[in-house]
Amino acid sequence: MASTPQTEHTTQTERTQTWDAARYAANGRFVANLAGEVLSMLDAKAGEHILDLGCGDGALTERIAASGAEVTGCDADASMLAAAKLRGLTTVQADMRLLPFHGEFDAVFSNAALHWVTDQTSVIRGIHRALKPGGRFVAEMGGLGNIASLRTALSAVLRRFHLDAEAIGGSFYPSEADYRALLEANGFRVVTMALVPRPTLVKAGMEEWLRTFRSGVLARLPELDREPVIAEVTDLLRPMLCDGSGQWWADYVRLRFHVERD
Ligand code: BEZ
Repeated sequence: MASTPQTEHTTQTERTQTWDAARYAANGRFVANLAGEVLSMLDAKAGEHILDLGCGDGALTERIAASGAEVTGCDADASMLAAAKLRGLTTVQADMRLLPFHGEFDAVFSNAALHWVTDQTSVIRGIHRALKPGGRFVAEMGGLGNIASLRTALSAVLRRFHLDAEAIGGSFYPSEADYRALLEANGFRVVTMALVPRPTLVKAGMEEWLRTFRSGVLARLPELDREPVIAEVTDLLRPMLCDGSGQWWADYVRLRFHVERD
């Protein structure tokens, strides 16, 4: 009789992803480069106080600051924040679930960061506390179906190692209706919200994508198994995500919204 693999789970008290600022700068720049629409939705104005939540290395924080707004970049990761500080930005290191702000911001902005945390109620309540009454929260995150083929291939391969990639990855990719309900239950009014499929060119290739964005999960493997796993996942994905000219496309789905606090 086949034995059932024992899977390893993680809790939200642990960080589920680790970041390497140099690798991110080399392979992850597309994340900030594709944020034009959500930046336009933010429409930052000179003199406004804006929190960039999950600011990473500060590439977008810097663009928001160019509007003349006073921007604070907030992130949990010390190596990414060190890169943001090198840009001369104001930064605060904090866990998204435990934001230390009280009524000081006209707007909270976030790009490609909220989905790293499963306890969204704590995140949303912290954002509500951080905003002035009537303040806006404008963000883009992974939504339902985000990187579905990538996650499925990784899960399939890691099961052999008794690892549950979804549980360890700890990501949260909600539907429009689910996230709207969470926001409305926590004091926000939805102005606009849309789930937008956005196949995204990964110039560095799938192996580098996995090393950059799935380092937390891959770190659970014995070191000697990591590169063979990356190669196997990449092979599984080739028919779905690699085009005729050898370019890789990640199956991103974005949830983009503008909401206001009461
Ligand atoms: C995202 O922006 O949706 C994302 C980026 C890297 C890994 C997973 C999701």
